[in-house]
Amino acid sequence: MKALEKSIQECGSIKELEKLRIEVFGKKGYFTAQFAKLKELKDDEKIAFAAKVNEDKGRFTTLINSKKELLEAAERSEALKKDAVDVSLYSRLSDAGALHPVMSTMDKIIEYFMSLNFSVEDGPLIEDDFHNFEALNLPKFHPARDMQDTFYCKDGALLRTHTSPVQVRTMLSQQPPIRMICPGSVFRRDLDLTHTPMFHQIEGLVVDKKGMVSFANLKSILEEFLRYMFGNVDVRFRPSFFPFTEPSAEVDISCIFCGGSGCKVCKNTGWLEILGCGEVDPNVFKAVGYKDVSGYAFGLGIERFTMLLRGVGDLRSLFEGDLRLLEQFK
Ligand code: PHE
Repeated sequence: MKALEKSIQECGSIKELEKLRIEVFGKKGYFTAQFAKLKELKDDEKIAFAAKVNEDKGRFTTLINSKKELLEAAERSEALKKDAVDVSLYSRLSDAGALHPVMSTMDKIIEYFMSLNFSVEDGPLIEDDFHNFEALNLPKFHPARDMQDTFYCKDGALLRTHTSPVQVRTMLSQQPPIRMICPGSVFRRDLDLTHTPMFHQIEGLVVDKKGMVSFANLKSILEEFLRYMFGNVDVRFRPSFFPFTEPSAEVDISCIFCGGSGCKVCKNTGWLEILGCGEVDPNVFKAVGYKDVSGYAFGLGIERFTMLLRGVGDLRSLFEGDLRLLEQFK
């Protein structure tokens, strides 16, 4: 019995302990043998013997149970140690996402104009003829409507072809002075190397009392903006035409790839066409009911900026969702 007690105390695994338990309590075990002895004893001896065996039984039960608990705890902590995860360990597999290059260009532009106190306005993607064309001095059958081949819905609604309708909505709902930009997606029926049916624009609009806003303001703000985006470039304004601005200009920067000496990207002109702008046409102010104001507006394609800034050759690749391309811009 002493030997059994000792082996239980020293036993090192639950399996081994179970074997010992059977040796002690099993059918052919120690206590079965002890109780068998009872029969051979005289009555007066029986009581004392039985009491002694029962006491031993209690001791063994406690001994085995507490040993079992100890062994189980040890096994558990061993298993925990083996399966432990070091949450502070750097994982080479970690693969965080990143902003799409078009969105990060958009953010950069928004940040710039917000720092100049422009508000950021939003508007619906599905527009009507009035906000997208009519109020912008593009009456029905105006040839300039062809500049923006439009997706029409059945009921005469259309997908906005530029973000300019947001300017109209803002002027209809607010009073001057206005200093706003409107970033967002626009839609045109176009698909080639430099056009996709959906792309993004940011337009800006500044309106104030007559005489407070001039073309000179427009010129200086855009020059500063373009140098912020592209570094130390030359900026030139070329006369152009938009129905909603008069006078209108197209703005070029000196080619950021060849520095102006001529290359494939600038088609050997040394210049990159980059945005459209002008003083707001009086007909637009008439359409929104503004009197005695002047203002300027500008509009640019965010994809074009992104392609130039990131050296992307094919606009369509920006929308294919190919991770091999997108991962380069993390
Ligand atoms: N809305 C014009 C376009 O989509 C861009 C523009 C905006 C031009 C404002 C001049 C002034 O082409």
